[in-house]
Amino acid sequence: MSHDPASPMRPRRFLPAGPIKGRIRVPGDKSISHRSIMLGALAVGETRVTGLLEGEDVLATAAAMRAMGASVERMEDGEWRVSGVGVGALHQPTGPLDMGNSGTSTRLLMGLVSSHPINVSFVGDESLSKRPMGRVIDPLSEMGASFEASEGGRLPLIVRGASPAVPITYRLPVASAQVKSAILLAGLNTPGTTTVIEPVPTRDHSERMLKGFGAELDVTVEADGTRVITIKGEAELKPQVIDVPGDPSSAAFFIVAALVVPGSEVVIENVGLNPTRAGLVEVLRQMGGQIEFLNSREVGGEPVADLLVKHSALKGIEVDPAIAPAMIDEFPVLFVAASLAEGVTVTSGLDELRVKESDRLSAMAAALTLAGAEIEEREDGLVITGTGGAPLPGTATAAQVTTHLDHRIAMSMAVAGLVSQQGVDVDDTRPIATSFPNFEDLLASLAE
Ligand code: S3P
Repeated sequence: MSHDPASPMRPRRFLPAGPIKGRIRVPGDKSISHRSIMLGALAVGETRVTGLLEGEDVLATAAAMRAMGASVERMEDGEWRVSGVGVGALHQPTGPLDMGNSGTSTRLLMGLVSSHPINVSFVGDESLSKRPMGRVIDPLSEMGASFEASEGGRLPLIVRGASPAVPITYRLPVASAQVKSAILLAGLNTPGTTTVIEPVPTRDHSERMLKGFGAELDVTVEADGTRVITIKGEAELKPQVIDVPGDPSSAAFFIVAALVVPGSEVVIENVGLNPTRAGLVEVLRQMGGQIEFLNSREVGGEPVADLLVKHSALKGIEVDPAIAPAMIDEFPVLFVAASLAEGVTVTSGLDELRVKESDRLSAMAAALTLAGAEIEEREDGLVITGTGGAPLPGTATAAQVTTHLDHRIAMSMAVAGLVSQQGVDVDDTRPIATSFPNFEDLLASLAE
């Protein structure tokens, strides 16, 4: 699934644009898409999924589940059908699982494999191979799995699953839905009750979907907001029909584009607004962004609405670090919005951004500085002094942005290009296909 290293980089200049207007739909939610394939592959019977994100990351999960015995097929009408093997019955894959660029595939599948009697080797691209896996290796080792990892607990690595695995109670040292989900998925085939204690809430798609598939999962919230999640092991999962809502993390690029390009007005249909994901909308509203929810409803057990977004004069704010987990993937594009706001935006508590597909604090500081924004990079956040709406002045030639194999850097800087004097040159647009294959087409369809 990884980009063919031999294939050339695909640079592109994103030019200043007039108002963006129209109605669009963004692809399915990446987190929910991964989980629907994984849980479908563990249920006995046929799970049907519509609206699945057909990005490279999710296709890596699909290929991995096939390699471990499930049938995962796309129908002609775009529906996906997954026939599972049953919890406890994953097959031994015959070769390494290629995770491409996908941290979610890697960490969640390391969890699943850890409580099955199989040995699995995980490999990934250059970006994924730099990312820390110790955060899942630690709890999964306590459950009895063993690991042979590359230096620093990185890929390539081998997981030797435990059979039976041992149930644990684990307090998350980092606010990470991937770590939480890895433990819960390992807990599915572990006798007894596995408990995850989450001091800071993170996206809860795993909990919602595990319950939907019939797992015995309970969540209690303590007085200080700590969530205690228990899952009973040796579960039997029942196949489901899942409609995947649009990905708020993909909608984010068009929300910000509509807010910052003068004269814009866009409706983005069917956007997932799970409260553990909706932080960006809240922060942009605090900055003065006009974002209305139309037709609020529920899709696939998740709150959803159509978003009406109009160009707005944004103002800089101090972003409350407590909201970070609810918009962890949206900071790169928030930094673009802040660069065009009036006044100073201060962000903090964002150490986790340094271990995403790239170091997103340094990558965005460098990219936006090239585009002419005023940025101060701190250890745990950026401080940005905005232009007050004036296009980013750029350098003498268009800014040459390095994306570091990070889809969200590429798309964020594409948005910055729309409100620049001279355009923004992105060195490589190939990573966009990991999460949002039709991003460039949608952008073109909205430009007047
Ligand atoms: C994800 C969780 C987040 C997020 C990632 C998807 C998930 O990662 O950044 O894009 O699907 O669970 P962390 O859990 O590492 O913060």
